[in-house]
Amino acid sequence: MHTLFESFKVKGLELKNRIVMPPMCQYSSDENGFVKDWHVFHYASRAVGGVGFIIVEATSVEPDGRISPNDLGIWSDRHVEGLKKLTTAIHENGAKVAIQLAHAGRKSRTADLPIAPSAIRFSEEYRVPMQMDKIRINEVTEEFSKAAERAVKAGFDAVEIHAAHGYLINEFLSPLTNKRNDEYGGTLEKRARFFKEIVESVKSKLPIDMPLMVRVSASDYYEGGNEVEDVAKILNLLSGMIDVVDISGGGVMPENHVKTFFGYQLDNASKIKEMTGLYTIGGGLITTYPLAEYAVSSKCDLVFLGRQLLRAPYWPLRAAKEASVDLEWPFQYKRAK
Ligand SMILES: Cc1cc2nc3c(=O)[nH]c(=O)nc-3n(C[C@H](O)[C@H](O)[C@H](O)COP(=O)(O)O)c2cc1C
Repeated sequence: MHTLFESFKVKGLELKNRIVMPPMCQYSSDENGFVKDWHVFHYASRAVGGVGFIIVEATSVEPDGRISPNDLGIWSDRHVEGLKKLTTAIHENGAKVAIQLAHAGRKSRTADLPIAPSAIRFSEEYRVPMQMDKIRINEVTEEFSKAAERAVKAGFDAVEIHAAHGYLINEFLSPLTNKRNDEYGGTLEKRARFFKEIVESVKSKLPIDMPLMVRVSASDYYEGGNEVEDVAKILNLLSGMIDVVDISGGGVMPENHVKTFFGYQLDNASKIKEMTGLYTIGGGLITTYPLAEYAVSSKCDLVFLGRQLLRAPYWPLRAAKEASVDLEWPFQYKRAK
């Protein structure tokens, strides 16, 4: 059995294998957030290397939503052309591709006045954010929705909403950063309201057979923060609207109390899968074929390899050899197979 090299289908998205490149910022755009040659080479190389599913890095829905100055953007129609180039290069080399739509919230390094659910800064190195009012909440929701429309135009096969790592949506979800007492704060249901509105607005712009994915921090790894059971409850509030959950963790507080080891986020992926019935992408420090195989055969549906794919862009081709799976190689490289 080689589950890792089995195909996978969710709605209209058909993947040739279960190997995922998770979103990883490349800090390689310009001040306008446009796609550069680097992005095309970088992502297309992983497609050539046999990755089944690539999730393009956190791409900001508004200029002030960028984490750092050279992040990709999708806040205007002018971004579509470059993103289309990217999806074309990835498709031509045999992989499917999603985009991660993001807003950094209080962790934005580019905003003069960052926004957040409550006016609490991340650390002393960050600015004190402005607490969002209802008008600003609606504006950001609308920006996510327009970004989703552009993602479809640019040829992406799926859309992932970034609700992890202590960025804006996660700031609303976590009781550590959301101290509001209006309809967007307090109970878990109220903290999830902003997320739910964004999910609804994004979903309304996607073709019916296009999967909607979310990335969550399954745990804040911090006392008083969300635990995996809370996050499963939040996901269940989105029932029927989302198809795949990409499981990560932490980022809400400057210090994470997380122990990392090979496959350290797989148990959370497995718990979320069990508690929500959703397809899950799991991972965390996965570098070897046996661990990736173990992940998809007993913990989650798809497995992400982040830093390992930065080290070894052709990792899937090598893993297939180790698994004695006869994977199709790019014809140009067949003499090296
Ligand atoms: C350079 C770099 C950039 C990253 N950027 C993002 C990002 O844009 N969005 C995101 O959700 N996670 C981001 N991450 C986290 C990765 O997607 C992944 O969850 C993390 O690296 C753990 O997986 P790994 O141990 O396989 O590398 C980034 C990680 C790295 C190393």
